[in-house]
Amino acid sequence: MSAQGLLIALTKGRILEEVLPLLEKAGIIPAEDISKSRKLIFDSNIEGVRLMVLRGSDVPTYVELGCADIGIAGKDVIMETGSSGFYEPLDLKLATCRLMTARPVAQNKSPKRMRVASKFVNIAKAYFSEKGQQVDIIKLNGALELAPIMGLADCIVDIVDTGKTLKANGLEPEELIAEISTRVIVNKAAMKLKHAQIQDLLMRLQKAVN
Ligand code: PRP
Repeated sequence: MSAQGLLIALTKGRILEEVLPLLEKAGIIPAEDISKSRKLIFDSNIEGVRLMVLRGSDVPTYVELGCADIGIAGKDVIMETGSSGFYEPLDLKLATCRLMTARPVAQNKSPKRMRVASKFVNIAKAYFSEKGQQVDIIKLNGALELAPIMGLADCIVDIVDTGKTLKANGLEPEELIAEISTRVIVNKAAMKLKHAQIQDLLMRLQKAVN
């Protein structure tokens, strides 16, 4: 937990682009243009409220370990941490997409033991184990669609938004694992010790979402 004020960890990229207008609606405006700066930490128009810009997968870590009081991250990266070390009080309903399995269109028979490529290895493991299906998980960091094309994997677990990337690479979505959207997470100690300040922020954000 940050010693004073509120430190909010934001996810850079597409989530940031959608979150900044929402923050502004909630009355929180960065002191400078985040998209034009190489800085990673910013003051805001509210005394004591500061914003950090991180990779999405690092946001839950900062919040859980108390280096940020609040985090804004995709449900996919939150699920992937598998952690219950923070609260998740609010769905901002931004950057919505689906986490799905996908496979080559022409593939009509699955091998006995599937090889599944994903960035989300923990989610993929949990999903197939829940189905009682033994699979080999292959960790990749991007361009997952290439894995089935190149014979590295039989299927992938990935984010699907418009479905264009799958289609362009001869793949089709198969099973829905989870509906994804941007969530607010809160450090557990901060929720107690900075309760009024955090509730006020959550209320402003909730209003902005509505
Ligand atoms: C995500 C995902 C797909 C693509 C899906 O990648 O991994 O590749 O978006 O979007 P679509 O359904 O609209 O085509 P992203 O662009 O976030 O890059 P990444 O590979 O670095 O995750």
